[in-house]
Amino acid sequence: MRHRAVLCGCGAMAKGWLKALTESDFLRGKVEVVGLVDLDQTTAQALAAEFKLHDIIIGTDLPAVLRQSRADLLFDVVVPAARRAVVAAGLAHGCHVLSEKPMAATLDDARELRRLAVDASRIHAIVQNRRFIDGVRRIRRLIQSGSLGELTALHCDFFLGPHFGGFREQMDNVLLLDMAIHTFDAARFMSGKDPLAVYCHEYNPQGSWYRHGAAANAIFEFSDNVAFTYRGSWCAQGANTSWESAWRITGSKGTLIWDGGERFEANVVSGHEGFLRAVEPITVPEAEDRADTHGHASVIERFICAIDTGTVPETDGSDNIKSLAMVFGAIDSARDGKRVTIAA
Ligand SMILES: NC(=O)c1ccc[n+]([C@@H]2O[C@H](COP(=O)([O-])OP(=O)(O)OC[C@H]3O[C@@H](n4cnc5c(N)ncnc54)[C@H](O)[C@@H]3O)[C@@H](O)[C@H]2O)c1
Repeated sequence: MRHRAVLCGCGAMAKGWLKALTESDFLRGKVEVVGLVDLDQTTAQALAAEFKLHDIIIGTDLPAVLRQSRADLLFDVVVPAARRAVVAAGLAHGCHVLSEKPMAATLDDARELRRLAVDASRIHAIVQNRRFIDGVRRIRRLIQSGSLGELTALHCDFFLGPHFGGFREQMDNVLLLDMAIHTFDAARFMSGKDPLAVYCHEYNPQGSWYRHGAAANAIFEFSDNVAFTYRGSWCAQGANTSWESAWRITGSKGTLIWDGGERFEANVVSGHEGFLRAVEPITVPEAEDRADTHGHASVIERFICAIDTGTVPETDGSDNIKSLAMVFGAIDSARDGKRVTIAA
């Protein structure tokens, strides 16, 4: 079946979606974009012209465009503050909805969207494109293989200094809500563990060009006695890490270092004697399926496959709300200055 999609929110990220939809053979065959919606009609028109989307419905009124275009899919690429109303409109129309991250602007909104999706018997899934990359897939497989022994901890550093302009420089908790959601989701996915509790110190460093919360340091307790530590800043210039962060992952038998790019270094203990035991390198396995390493295109493909086969996609709201709960747990902890238990 060929799906009819309306994309709502025609800003910067929408171009990434339309690029993925046009460049993936699978998606080109499966999805037709039949409508574009934005608060600003000219923004939507400009996007349609750029991607040569002729004969589609363009408007500012989402329910009207969904109705007129007879869409069965809604692609939600609006700013987080608008997400609840946009997703609710899509579900009310009977669409399956794929939303940009974060799943919602509050945990209560996310729970409400879960309820609406269940009541409508429709899928509401979230774009967590940064788990659909080669390195993260390879690390998950390495951890699952048991080569590092029992997983004990994941540590990551995220230090960049991007000048976005726009909504990010005005929003509260910018690093945790807009970026760390990716990193927390990747940690949860790689480890296969559940987040239980967090202590977080969040602040806005001297010289920050963001209004609030450009840096954070968080310690998470995961299930099975696994620790996850995060040190991040979005106003640290001079020695950038990868957008995927720089990782050190320890198990009972050894350690994996990943620079967030091409460099992996994994060693496990090989000797039984000495103050520091001898180690030997091990190979990090390839990703199980290359189709899962193409970021946005992979997320959208998985979403479509789940609809077509009646299955639940990997980033369905029922699971992804746990990543959002990590973010809001960290925000609550930083606000109250204490350890917070995490409840999705
Ligand atoms: N997954 C990623 O890697 C990634 C990267 C960047 C942004 N994002 C996410 O994508 C979303 C959009 O970010 P962006 O950078 O494109 O922002 P943007 O400000 O460039 O674009 C957002 C667009 O949504 C429109 N909009 C806002 N409210 C609307 C509403 N109620 N109805 C219709 N249109 C509405 C705005 O007019 C604007 O054109 C955010 O949730 C952001 O976190 C994800």
